[in-house]
Amino acid sequence: MILGFIGTGRITSSVIEGIFKSNLRVKKIYISPRNKIIAKKLSKRFKKVTISRNNQQLIDNSNWVFLAVTPKVGDKILKKLSFKKNQKIVSFISTIDLAQLRKVIGKKIKIVRAIPLPPISMRKGPVPICPPDKQVKSFFNKLGTTVEIKNEKSSINFWATSGMMAPFYELLKILSDWLVKRGIKRSEAQKYITSLFAALSEDSVINSKKDLKYLVKDSQTPRGLNEQAVKQLRKAGFYRNLEKSLNGILKRVNKV
Ligand SMILES: NC(=O)c1ccc[n+]([C@@H]2O[C@H](COP(=O)([O-])OP(=O)(O)OC[C@H]3O[C@@H](n4cnc5c(N)ncnc54)[C@H](OP(=O)(O)O)[C@@H]3O)[C@@H](O)[C@H]2O)c1
Repeated sequence: MILGFIGTGRITSSVIEGIFKSNLRVKKIYISPRNKIIAKKLSKRFKKVTISRNNQQLIDNSNWVFLAVTPKVGDKILKKLSFKKNQKIVSFISTIDLAQLRKVIGKKIKIVRAIPLPPISMRKGPVPICPPDKQVKSFFNKLGTTVEIKNEKSSINFWATSGMMAPFYELLKILSDWLVKRGIKRSEAQKYITSLFAALSEDSVINSKKDLKYLVKDSQTPRGLNEQAVKQLRKAGFYRNLEKSLNGILKRVNKV
């Protein structure tokens, strides 16, 4: 399989890094010359990565083409490019919908939208795809966990929750800082907090077929520390505010 990436930025770098850690059989990867610095770095690091002269040359040489430019750039460049009939296009562009993509690209070409996230570089994390597609599903399952979505509109909700990555890290930071203030070495504090939350995350994935409320319940002993913490945080509006922030993000995502 020969892959091409239009737009060599943050998400392309993460996906390519994930690909070379996986057992996906990729013959070659063509990347666009922009961003110059990132493109040079990737082609130096991975033998199979070649910088194309331009976007059209990349399309002409690839079986699958990934669109990894910002919506503004996509609007500007896609209409000038010509894709092949038997090609598959995977768009990471979060705000150009399938109908718009089909209009500029041509109806006969298979187009799938996908929302990979940076942890894909470690072959971890969810990748929502829409519409469902067997080959694209199996591709991203080698790089993380594919979530097939039938209804394009509902994919926006998944996108909104991806805005909770920085708040998650902020939580880890606050807990680590708290330990540091109590005289614990930063390296020890961060090691403790990150491995605790890694273990909890792993446990929640294992239990993700059950309603998560059981994990909340099972991790509390009557009158124990966890019961106290969750009660106090609920009372203080911590979780209510979390939902409010999510609603705010969704509003913004719906507007773009
Ligand atoms: N980052 C994420 O976690 C993430 C997750 C899911 C989806 N997405 C979506 O993926 C897309 C890319 O995101 P990103 O975070 O990777 O953005 P980014 O880091 O800004 O990358 C965009 C790349 O497009 C390049 N570019 C600009 N004009 C171009 C052109 N005419 N032809 C080819 N490449 C051109 C830019 O190069 P220059 O630097 O030279 O301008 C840059 O390397 C966006 O639509 C975003 O919504 C991102």
